[in-house]
Amino acid sequence: MSFKQEAKKSFPEWPIYGDEEIKALTRVIKSGKWWCGSPGVHQGENVWKFQEEFAKFQSAKHCIAVFNGTVAIEVPLLALGIGLGDEVIVSDYTFVASASAVVATNAVPIFCDIDPDTLVMDVDKVEGLITDRTKAIIPVHLGGNPVEMDKLMDIAEKNNLKVVEDCSHAHGSKYKGKYVGNWGHAGTFSFQASKVLTAGEGGAIITNDSQLADVMYSISDCGRKKNEYGYNHYIYGSNYRMTEYQAAILLEQLNKFPAQHELRNENAKYLMDKLNAIDGIKVMKPTPGTEKLGYYVYPIVFEPEKFGDITKLEFKKKLNRNGIPTDDCYPPLHRLDCFKNKDLRKGIDYSNANWGGGKSNDKDFPIVSDIYSRSIEFPHEMLLASKEKLDFVVEFIKCLK
Ligand SMILES: Cc1ncc(COP(=O)(O)O)c(C=O)c1O
Repeated sequence: MSFKQEAKKSFPEWPIYGDEEIKALTRVIKSGKWWCGSPGVHQGENVWKFQEEFAKFQSAKHCIAVFNGTVAIEVPLLALGIGLGDEVIVSDYTFVASASAVVATNAVPIFCDIDPDTLVMDVDKVEGLITDRTKAIIPVHLGGNPVEMDKLMDIAEKNNLKVVEDCSHAHGSKYKGKYVGNWGHAGTFSFQASKVLTAGEGGAIITNDSQLADVMYSISDCGRKKNEYGYNHYIYGSNYRMTEYQAAILLEQLNKFPAQHELRNENAKYLMDKLNAIDGIKVMKPTPGTEKLGYYVYPIVFEPEKFGDITKLEFKKKLNRNGIPTDDCYPPLHRLDCFKNKDLRKGIDYSNANWGGGKSNDKDFPIVSDIYSRSIEFPHEMLLASKEKLDFVVEFIKCLK
């Protein structure tokens, strides 16, 4: 079989948009209502509508829309009283924002290794990381794959810890009958350009706790109370508001999302059966109890010795040269330059951190360090391709042996 040219440029590209998004943006511009204001005295309607629609979509009581997925993590941490010197346990395998949001609140992230099959936080390792300074846990549903939230919530309750789920990869992921983001005290989402629901930038927080929702709303709108626009700033907050432009696009993207979500899940299963049948390839295993996955990325782990000792870089290059798209996996957090340094913020005691200087050691995070060296991710838009194209990917990988 010749793989030259055959698949080049033939995989779907992201974002997918149409006249609807263009009309929605034009409507905002022509309305002259260029910001959301406050309810009751609000100007534009898109942010308020999106908050309602997204809460409904994720089956949550409340949604607060913000301008990106990083501040979406900061806001609940601040609202839950996480701050100076508190420790927050975070998966080691995630985008830097899951931990930088912790640093931004003056707390200290503590990294947790992952499960080798599901690639998300190994819940059995969490208790060993709890100290008398631990105040919260941030499970990250990487690639949309849910962390074992029932087990994690038991640990959190037993130790009186807050839980903020980072659902930036997990729009529409459902675990044991509940959408992710509804298990913890709050769940956070990103709508950045590559995400499955996007406006280029954007974020949201969901919660079922009405009091927490009010505090988070205030923090994100300069300390104002909802329904009370003006210059009364009841608590300390800042401006994290989503723009009308972002919300207008997101409302249109949300209409398109359910069909894409179904297709991604159908194709992910189709591909999983075929890829797992190749000796030396293992697809990220959906956490037992998962009903639907957001599938922001589709990670596969390979055994180099079964592919003539190929390196990850070579593997990726061969796929890309033949038009098969890949994404870069996140380097484990403990390896990042910014976490080699222990003076991130003035006056914070980082001495307990399990990273920094000599502590940033792969031996202490053996699973994620090994997985990172031999994993490749396919982007979610590949899961919108035809079965024929997916077969091409499978046949191409077989030929690399
Ligand atoms: C797991 C995770 N958390 C948080 C974020 C931050 O989102 P944003 O880029 O919208 O700030 C991202 C974005 O890539 C992410 O992948």
